[in-house]
Amino acid sequence: MPTLKEHLDAIEAQFDLDGHKLEAILSRFRNRMEHGLEKDGQNMAMIPSFVTGVPDGTEKGTYLALDLGGTNLRVCEVKLDGKGSFEMKQEKYKVSDEHKTGKARELFSFIARCVETFLKSESSSHNVADEELLLGFTFSFPVEQTAIDRGRLIKWTKGFDAPDAIGQEVVTLLQSCLDELNVKVRVNALVNDTVGALLAHGYQSRGPALLGAIFGTGTNGAYVEDRRKVAKLEVEDPIRPVPSSMIVNTEWGGFDDERAVLPVTMFDNLVDRTAIRPRHHAFEKMISGMYLGEVTRTVLIHLIDNLVLFQGFSSDKFNEMYGFDTAYMSAVMADNDGQSSATRKVLIETMGLDPANVGAEDVEAVKRVCHFVGRRAARLSAVAIAAVLQHTNKTQSTGSGGADDVVEVGVDGSVVEFLPQFTENMKEALRLMVGAEAEKKTRFGFAKDGSGVGAALCALQAKKQAQGTHH
Ligand code: GLC
Repeated sequence: MPTLKEHLDAIEAQFDLDGHKLEAILSRFRNRMEHGLEKDGQNMAMIPSFVTGVPDGTEKGTYLALDLGGTNLRVCEVKLDGKGSFEMKQEKYKVSDEHKTGKARELFSFIARCVETFLKSESSSHNVADEELLLGFTFSFPVEQTAIDRGRLIKWTKGFDAPDAIGQEVVTLLQSCLDELNVKVRVNALVNDTVGALLAHGYQSRGPALLGAIFGTGTNGAYVEDRRKVAKLEVEDPIRPVPSSMIVNTEWGGFDDERAVLPVTMFDNLVDRTAIRPRHHAFEKMISGMYLGEVTRTVLIHLIDNLVLFQGFSSDKFNEMYGFDTAYMSAVMADNDGQSSATRKVLIETMGLDPANVGAEDVEAVKRVCHFVGRRAARLSAVAIAAVLQHTNKTQSTGSGGADDVVEVGVDGSVVEFLPQFTENMKEALRLMVGAEAEKKTRFGFAKDGSGVGAALCALQAKKQAQGTHH
């Protein structure tokens, strides 16, 4: 019978991504990106956002933002001061599972009611009778965008599944519910959170950013693409004159759903098979906060079943699907007080294990599993970033050494913010793929509240584009 250590060595080897494996994944990633720009890519949607300008910090005005697709629904009022800063008032609302998986109409009328409540609350400086407000809607799901304020839902991700919404115009759904309530708000921009992160980072760093990436409940990235490379838009281009660049939402969470190169383990299969949407967003399921804790839990359960962990005993909470939250994983990984008290606390108090079954070796094993699951997530994330850098020719130095030689990447999300060593591990893998110099000039910054500020900036950008001043 293999020992705990032997089990762990074998499993860790499956989670390990050496330079060769990374290269293979990277090369397919780039190929899928290019393919997606030409035709409607299945497994990398590469969605044109119709956003053709990026902010530089001088933007001004008050806009509403609505954010659906993370943990909560948020309504925000954002005041941009034109100096790279902003003031924001916001309220959060919980979206129930019934709304997430019920009828589209009910979900959107709930959202509209939240906007109404917000406008009537003290958080808003507007009152409902005031003039019409513009609202940027951060809707963080794959949408087939046809204009800056139009798009049909392609599919749900991250635990949402209201089937009758598929194929519907998202803005129309929301606007009609707002109109029914007589709320004087016009939804003039439909924004993915990654596009929001990109815009917010540009505004806050007061210069153009290349990439906005989310490593949170889900994962995805949007980058500034040369307009001519977005071949699938060539036929009918609603924007005149044709702009030189456009932000593209990659939907990289859907990379390699066919699993040609992803390092799929039996644990990933288990998570996928029992997920709300099996065989979709395979890459996301290895990286994002919604799934990392669950991948870890399945590894631990396997060790329990093999009687090498916790003396072979589990707990109700451990047996529960998604019972081991990614936040617990963060707590375990951050635990280095020498006595493992935080890890013991998670295992005994939160997860309800019998203390008699939690020995020093068990604690170390749990830590090790969290670390290798987290490390794989970070290294896979680096693949996505490396692919965008290479695709946009940003891996060569301009030789100037100046500000133009810096590549700005705005990131946001609970995984990059809270999962220990995520950024370090990601940068280490990035260095392997693009070289030390290119990694160094890639500057990662928090796109603070990208989904709020970004949506406001997008509403402003949409107004500019409608007036024909999009560059
Ligand atoms: C999922 C969504 C995508 C979003 C990402 C991060 O991958 O499909 O649109 O950007 O989560 O929230």
